[in-house]
Amino acid sequence: MTLNVLFAAQSDLWADYEAPLAAALAEAGLDARLDLSIPAAEVDYIIYSPDSELQDFAPYRRAKAVLNLWAGVEKTVGNPTLVIPFARMVDPAMTTSMTEWVCGHVLRYHLGMDADIVNPDRTWGPRVPPLAAERRVCVLGLGELGTAATQKLAQFGFSVSGWSRSPKRIDGVTCHHGPDGFSRALGSAEIFVTLLPDTPATENLLDTAAFAQMPRGAFLINPGRGPLIDDDALLAALDSGQLAGATLDVFRTEPLPKDHPFWAHPRVTVTPHIAAATRPATASRVIADNIFRSEAGDPLLHRVDTTRGY
Ligand code: NAP
Ligand code: GLV
Repeated sequence: MTLNVLFAAQSDLWADYEAPLAAALAEAGLDARLDLSIPAAEVDYIIYSPDSELQDFAPYRRAKAVLNLWAGVEKTVGNPTLVIPFARMVDPAMTTSMTEWVCGHVLRYHLGMDADIVNPDRTWGPRVPPLAAERRVCVLGLGELGTAATQKLAQFGFSVSGWSRSPKRIDGVTCHHGPDGFSRALGSAEIFVTLLPDTPATENLLDTAAFAQMPRGAFLINPGRGPLIDDDALLAALDSGQLAGATLDVFRTEPLPKDHPFWAHPRVTVTPHIAAATRPATASRVIADNIFRSEAGDPLLHRVDTTRGY
């Protein structure tokens, strides 16, 4: 039987995804009709992005799963019309991209690169940076992306710690967990990376009290989600010197409004939500694999737990 697979993501993505998805579905041995428009009652699977026009899943009575193109699910997870299984994106190329972005920005702060990149007075002031082994980095969030980042940072030689909801064991990484482990994690590094999902439990996690527990002069790198951070508390921590710098890829409002103080702050670097895009070739294989699993009666990979919110 031919499976009807609806592509319900932003329509400008269709050009990038049509061929790789068709190839991946065929490689998986699936007989599928893939389209931007299929009558709702005939759809078997929905390939989805949260900024899609599709927000009411109720008419998709036959659909067996919604397969997200994004890792983050906060815009969809509370949708009361979404009652069928929902899988988020775990894309190996996205993971590589995030790891590269995180390591690049950690190395910038570790090596103090800004002093050489911005040196208007042409000051010849040699500074010998510490070795990575003498620098502590903590990754808040030890899921698919956070774990990969800790592993690569540990390979560089950094002294790496991390924090998650449940206990973890990662070779070469000191793992903290739960509310009790949060203070220990905040005291455990000079450079922090946030790779947590946006949920009710993580909103404003990085507030005045959290910044106060970091060593003075710490750096923050946030490719997770904007609401993890209390923006005003971050600006105050930067202005007081409690934090020495922040690199932010994600924001409460995107695009970041032109008059937002982050743009003008001398110790904030803004990147426009580019840390880790989903890559069509690899993501298509993940989606085809999940449809294959569903058709075989196996549980979906990367299924979202709607009660946890991620
Ligand atoms: P994931 O695999 O679901 O991992 C999430 C991690 O956060 C897990 O370790 C989880 O703990 C931890 N966590 C969740 N709630 C927590 C809490 N209340 N307290 C402590 N730890 C908590 O997610 P992922 O694939 O690594 O992605 C992480 C986030 O990155 C996404 O949700 C998305 O917002 C963001 N992202 C950004 C970009 C970008 O381009 N900027 C790209 C992709 C993703 P457990 O392990 O115990 O469950
Ligand atoms: C990007 O931010 C994603 O959630 O995939």
